[in-house]
Parts: sequence; C-alpha cells; structure tokens
Amino acid sequence: MSTRGKFITFEGIDGAGKSSHLDLLCGLARAKGHAVERTFEPGGTPFGQRMREVVLRHEAPALAEAIAIFAARSAHVEQVIEPALAAGRWVVCDRFTDSTYAYQCGGRGLDVGLVERLEEIVHPGLQPDATFLFDVDPATAAARQGARGTEADKFERQVSDFHLRVRNAYLARAQRFPRRIRVIDASGSREDVGRRLEAEFAQVFP
Ligand code: TYD
Repeated sequence: MSTRGKFITFEGIDGAGKSSHLDLLCGLARAKGHAVERTFEPGGTPFGQRMREVVLRHEAPALAEAIAIFAARSAHVEQVIEPALAAGRWVVCDRFTDSTYAYQCGGRGLDVGLVERLEEIVHPGLQPDATFLFDVDPATAAARQGARGTEADKFERQVSDFHLRVRNAYLARAQRFPRRIRVIDASGSREDVGRRLEAEFAQVFP
C-alpha cells in the first residue's frame, strides 16, 4: 500500500497572484519524487464546474452560496481529492474551505458556526497538510486584476471594502491555525513571491 499523499491548498483574495505560483509548487513537489494532482475550487469535477458557474454568475444569499460551494466540494473530495491522496499522490488545490470562511463569513457575514457544521458534514477529518495564504493589500490586488484584462466575476467586482474583510478573515484563520496556514507576503515581483513560497515549502516539507 502506498503512503497517503499530502494535501496542499492555496488561498488569498482575488488578485493576490496565487494562481501563477501553482505551477511552481507542483514542480517543487514533483522534484521531491511525488506524483501531483492539481485541482481547484469551486469546481474540480463536472458537477462542481456547474455549481461554480451558478455561484459565480448569480446573486444569492450567503448561506445558499455556501451550500452550493459545499455541494461542489463534497463531489470534489469524494471523486478527486480522497482517491488521489489514498493512491499516494499529492493534491495541490487552488482554494478550499478556508475560502468559504474568508468570503462567505468574512466577506458576506455568514455565521461561522454554519460553515463549521457544513465542513463537519462534507469533509470530517480532512484538512490540508499545508495551506499557503498569499497575502496582499486589496489595492495592490485590484491593480493586478485590472492589468489582467479578463472579465471580472461577481466577487471580483466587489469594492475593496469586501476584500479587506476577506483578507482580515484569512489572517484571523492563519492566527488560529499557525502550523497549517503559512502566510506568504504576496507584494512585490512574481520572482520575489516565488522565492518566498519556495522557502516556506522547504520549511514545511524538508
Ligand atoms: P478563483 O477560481 O480563485 O478565481 P479566479 O478564477 O478569478 O482566479 O475563485 C473564484 C471566486 O470564488 C473567488 O472570487 C472566490 C470565490 N469563492 C468563494 O466565495 N467561496 C469559496 O468557498 C470558494 C472556493 C471560492
């Protein structure tokens, strides 16, 4: 039987630049000899992809949004994440449940207790082995997104006050789970941020 793989997640406000570092992290894990599966949320399965479109395109109460996201997550955990980990592969996931605490609770004011209950139903006992939180102030993030030139989804169009609350919720989680959540200063050049990520990765997975 193979050793269970590691579960690594990336988090951050929109425009923090995390997506451009996913390849780098997958490369670091492969360089250690591991098979790597890269995935993302909301999405990760055909069912999840449909839920993603619903959540990102339509206005809905925060609780409805959280339930839809956890429905997608349930399929993702059962069909993709758990089988890969059980087979010994490392799973690198762009966003996971910390996003729900940050966006639906921090950003939209949903009660944390409700998300804790959904988390307990959908993935009891499953937590990332490491989470890299790309932290940057919302103004810098917004400027980066403006430069990206793709059409903004509903969360990206929110004023920066929203992203400030999301950021603060992320930082509060990092304080609560300091061993799991590694805060990466995501200001500066892509090369600078990449070096910080490499240094953190080497600490977590020596
Ligand atoms: P993401 O795919 O990272 O955005 P992009 O394609 O622009 O890089 O995430 C899409 C949006 O979904 C993002 O604004 C955050 C939001 N989201 C939540 O609100 N709650 C969640 O639990 C998750 C996973 C994402």
